[in-house]
Amino acid sequence: MDKKLKHIAIIMDGNGRWASKQGLPRSAGHKKGAETLQEIAKAVADMGIECMTVYAFSTENWKRDKAEVDYLMNLLRQYLKSELKEIKDRGARIKVIGERDMLAPDIIEQINNLEKETLNNDKFTFCIALSYGSRAEILSAVRRTSSLVAKGDLHLDDIDENMFSNMLYTSGIPDPDIVIRTSGEQRISNYLLWQLAYSELFFTKTLWPDFTVNELKEIINDFNSRERRYGKV
Ligand code: IPE
Ligand code: IPE
Ligand code: MG
Repeated sequence: MDKKLKHIAIIMDGNGRWASKQGLPRSAGHKKGAETLQEIAKAVADMGIECMTVYAFSTENWKRDKAEVDYLMNLLRQYLKSELKEIKDRGARIKVIGERDMLAPDIIEQINNLEKETLNNDKFTFCIALSYGSRAEILSAVRRTSSLVAKGDLHLDDIDENMFSNMLYTSGIPDPDIVIRTSGEQRISNYLLWQLAYSELFFTKTLWPDFTVNELKEIINDFNSRERRYGKV
């Protein structure tokens, strides 16, 4: 059975609670969370793992207060400009998945440029789920597949798991081996529903801003000791 760890997916949760615990505004938690992300991304790239996908902003997160959404979008602008450069310089490919149309035009442009510039980097893929919702992703794949069938460009018999995976935003990326959710919540919150069919799930009470490379290593050790059976005995 394939045990090699290729892809870690993370639901970075608990920024707001981290801030409240210290009597700070939620924005302070998001700021510290972005620093944690930077450290973890560098560590994962250095471990020689092919891919990391992080849940940065869900389609449902648009429903938060305008001030919080604005703060997160500005933090993202900064992150795309400075922090990501460091990761890019290490030979990483940047990929953004989600409902891109909902983002501001200048952010879309930054993302398009980063993706284009890093397209041929193959050491590490840093995938950011932004304005992402898994059901929306699956529906858009269904629509595109159906339209190919309607036009006669695709035969019904040719729709298989492999083909459908390639219609998703994550096309070309292996399914996550590990999904980590911080902050104690034990739910998936519309994240990579198709892709995590056989992922090993890890839930930690640590709030995202407090998450460390050491804890990540403990999770990876635990993963290495688990037996993945994929339905067999
Ligand atoms: C995760 O932290 C970051 C985003 C969802 C953008 P939260 O903002 O959800 O923090 P909590 O869950 O309220 O503590
Ligand atoms: C999931 O966290 C989305 C991100 C981490 C970006 P939320 O805090 O938004 O999810 P719920 O509300 O607990 O399901
Ligand atoms: Mg949350």
